[in-house]
Amino acid sequence: MSFLDSLVQRLGAWLLAPKLRYSRAGYQLRALFQPLHGEDVIDAAVMLLAVNGVRGDVVEFGVFQGRSLQHLWFSHRWFEHLIRDEVRPILRGADPEPLTRHFWGYDSFEGLPAHDEPVAGQPKWIAQGAFAAPLAFVERGLRKARIPESAVTLVPGWYEDSLAPGTDPHPARVALAHIDCDLYSSTAHCLEFLAPRLVDGAIVIFDDWWLHRGHPDQGEQRAFAEFRAVHPELSFTELARSTTVSFLVHRRDADGARDGA
Ligand SMILES: C[S@@+](CC[C@H](N)C(=O)[O-])C[C@H]1O[C@@H](n2cnc3c(N)ncnc32)[C@H](O)[C@@H]1O
Repeated sequence: MSFLDSLVQRLGAWLLAPKLRYSRAGYQLRALFQPLHGEDVIDAAVMLLAVNGVRGDVVEFGVFQGRSLQHLWFSHRWFEHLIRDEVRPILRGADPEPLTRHFWGYDSFEGLPAHDEPVAGQPKWIAQGAFAAPLAFVERGLRKARIPESAVTLVPGWYEDSLAPGTDPHPARVALAHIDCDLYSSTAHCLEFLAPRLVDGAIVIFDDWWLHRGHPDQGEQRAFAEFRAVHPELSFTELARSTTVSFLVHRRDADGARDGA
């Protein structure tokens, strides 16, 4: 073996060593090139909505510091660019309308609400006030990321108030819902709010599906099971199951939310 080969081999072994790959620096380096927890599912959903021509807005329940909201926005921008510049020229004659979406972020901006729900295994983590990040902090982050102010509406408040019938402003049609609010009660509010707004072909992502040790009678899983039982006008096809779980939405009612075409 030449000296060069041996050097390359040693370097490779060093770079691939778990000690380096799973160090903090290694993790950050990998994050540059591969999506983090749940981000791959967001990217896949965004791409499918663009390919399927599903109109409607993007809604996030559970903004915290705005990281996933920013990801949603950049992911959309990327796939719009891809379709406009790379795919459209290939589809000769096809000239799909650009999909303009508004982004909505719903949060208390005071962290999780007080609750007495069972939270298997995570009593301290999923406690009142956890994940508190002020609205001004999130707004500053969006500005720093140069996301146009007109593209995003942040709606502060507890869901039982901010999503209640008669309140506004809200999206009329939702193409993508990212539900990341940890609790059964919070998720139940979000889903009821979404019921008339989800368009045919929409996608719902549950970020916390496996929280509460994955108990089906707790958290997002419980809220979704109860929701499905009382909304026969909506059917759901599982799309992706990883650390998050997502579903494609089909509307059985003709006049309900609205044209997803
Ligand atoms: C885990 S954090 C969201 C993380 C964020 N999506 C991210 O990836 O960075 C959960 C968020 O849900 C919000 N939340 C949970 N229940 C809520 C409720 N009932 N009303 C308003 N906000 C709520 C909390 O304030 C918190 O910011």
